[in-house]
Amino acid sequence: MSERRAVSDRREAALRRLGLVPGVAELVRAALDDAVGRAETGRGAAGAAPPAVVVLDAGCGRNSALARYRARIGRFVGVDIHEPAPGALPYLDEFAAVDLCESSDAFPPATFDVVLSSFTVEHLADPDAAFANLARWLRPGGSLVLTTVNRRHPFVAAYLGMPDGLRRRVQPFVKATAADAHPLVGACNDPAALREALARAGYDDIRVVTVGHLARAWQRRLPTFALGLVGDLLTQGIPSRRSTLVVRARAPGPAA
Ligand SMILES: C[S@@+](CC[C@H](N)C(=O)[O-])C[C@H]1O[C@@H](n2cnc3c(N)ncnc32)[C@H](O)[C@@H]1O
Repeated sequence: MSERRAVSDRREAALRRLGLVPGVAELVRAALDDAVGRAETGRGAAGAAPPAVVVLDAGCGRNSALARYRARIGRFVGVDIHEPAPGALPYLDEFAAVDLCESSDAFPPATFDVVLSSFTVEHLADPDAAFANLARWLRPGGSLVLTTVNRRHPFVAAYLGMPDGLRRRVQPFVKATAADAHPLVGACNDPAALREALARAGYDDIRVVTVGHLARAWQRRLPTFALGLVGDLLTQGIPSRRSTLVVRARAPGPAA
């Protein structure tokens, strides 16, 4: 095991001992287990060969929590405003350069059973337009799963509120690489604003869960891990102020 991996495992174990569970990864996995299972049932295709479920990672970057479901996915599409390096996303069937806020005709209506959007909402200039596009591209009753930051956490509010120049200087300390540092908007980044934005776009059954995620997100360096841990512990008992939102919602219309 590499030294970096060993450190990461020790930090994860410490977070668990401190009661900072479940983490975002576990919550997203539970949401996607449910979403993919529902899609299979809706298509009458559980265990079908070839698999029939069609999924989108909206703002796919360089990682996708949907990749672990690859064997159950018939068509796996990723979109982002930045093209990935050739071969960087081997689990995708297709990549399309799409601005979620603008390209409403990027896909026909009712294309996808499941949409995942992981830590992308905070970058969207027009989340209302993006949520409406995703609702249109989802099949009626299809599942949206998203994660984003919560500006009701004081550290997140401070980070989002920094002048761009200062934030650009801070980002290398908390991001793995410069490629992970994208302009931030934070237009609907608190539990109520996000719920309202999804309701305006017509989603049903909107479930918003908050979770402390700063220590895990900033764990690469000890000082930022320690700062994140303080931030997570400060808000652990105040759910509306935890750093991160994990959301599930259903696209408008009856389940297919
Ligand atoms: C913080 S990264 C997250 C990447 C990946 N989803 C993950 O969880 O590792 C945010 C991603 O959103 C993309 N993005 C930002 N604004 C976007 C937009 N308007 N439409 C599509 N993608 C966007 C960025 O290019 C970037 O890849």
